[in-house]
Amino acid sequence: MTKRVKNMKPSATVELTAKVLDLKRQGVDVIALNVGEPDFNTPENVCRIGKKAIDEGFTKYTTVSGTVELREAICKKLLEDNKIKYSPKEIIVSTGGKQVLINAVLALCEEGDEVLLPTPCWVSYIEMIKLAGSKPVLIKTEEEDEFQLNIQKIKEAITDKTKAIIINTPNNPTGAVYTEETLRELGQLAVKHDFYIISDEIYEKLVYDGCKHISIASFSSEIKEKTIVVNGFSKAYAMTGWRLGYGAGPAEVIKGMTSLQGHMTTSANSISQMAAVEALEGPKESIDYMRTQYDKRRKYLLDRLNKMKDIRCSQARGAFYLMPNISSLFGKSYKGEIIKDSKDVANFLLDKAHIAVVPGEAFEAPENVRISYSNSLEKIKEAMDRMEKALSILK
Ligand SMILES: Cc1ncc(COP(=O)(O)O)c(C=O)c1O
Repeated sequence: MTKRVKNMKPSATVELTAKVLDLKRQGVDVIALNVGEPDFNTPENVCRIGKKAIDEGFTKYTTVSGTVELREAICKKLLEDNKIKYSPKEIIVSTGGKQVLINAVLALCEEGDEVLLPTPCWVSYIEMIKLAGSKPVLIKTEEEDEFQLNIQKIKEAITDKTKAIIINTPNNPTGAVYTEETLRELGQLAVKHDFYIISDEIYEKLVYDGCKHISIASFSSEIKEKTIVVNGFSKAYAMTGWRLGYGAGPAEVIKGMTSLQGHMTTSANSISQMAAVEALEGPKESIDYMRTQYDKRRKYLLDRLNKMKDIRCSQARGAFYLMPNISSLFGKSYKGEIIKDSKDVANFLLDKAHIAVVPGEAFEAPENVRISYSNSLEKIKEAMDRMEKALSILK
């Protein structure tokens, strides 16, 4: 096996999902608060167009960078929603936002480069940077700041090797939505120090409390020239299994990403591409409905978690995740064993309360666990009752 593979950290979320499935198979009623995908079905109008694509024989390879119809629809969306003007040659459609990200990292970063990465962060960024042979430079965001970017710390981390920064707003796992002010400052830094911004905006549609999602590339043409916008259909349209994402950026970078993709997977799925045009251009009621449901669950969870002794949870205004701090539980014991870290807390909750959460270690957040509210309010209520009861036995 290559060093490339040996150096990869196994995905904690995948490991946990396997454990949860195993318990469920044994008949244990596990409430899954670990899941990173919507619990809703893909909107009916989108499914209908997917079926139509099959019936009409739209089942062949498409142009590597995606159909013109979809890339045009994406340009329209980016202009209307994000106030950024792109042409179809500045767009790539890939097999999920994940492939857009790895395409971007491999096209821009190589041996000797440094890539800035605010933490806590999504599990795959670090591995992608390492795959490119580059060095991830982790920059901690703080709970007290509701996990907002710290521009001073970013300034201090910039060197002549800095090639890019990966940002994710709204954020997985923290739920933070970056403010316009910090994004503006970051954009100016990228222009001044000549590094790229890979801006993962996959949770864009899931913002609450009157918060607005801002695309960093919308500030100026100079910042746009240094930005690759990453987005997709998985989260906003509940289309995880359709595997479709897109990137927008300078034509030269998109061309490089397209070359890579051409040799790895060719085009994204043709059926999904036709359905995605409908997702972008069809009725939006189901998107609003999903957001309203997530918001109810978020408010409920924040209230319940912050009422629990030993748990502290900062406000989170985006995505479908909360990151409660569970470090007050460290040092307590369960079944004669001391709870030492977030992994032990997650194991305890799974074992005692039958609720699955992801240990923060997976996201470079050792004092937290990640709770996903991609589950029904009814299940979430039951999970909180179980959690409260389980915590009360810890000494
Ligand atoms: C922050 C973030 N970016 C990107 C992705 C990739 O999504 P997909 O490949 O399904 O579009 C995910 C999925 O969990 C994510 O959480």
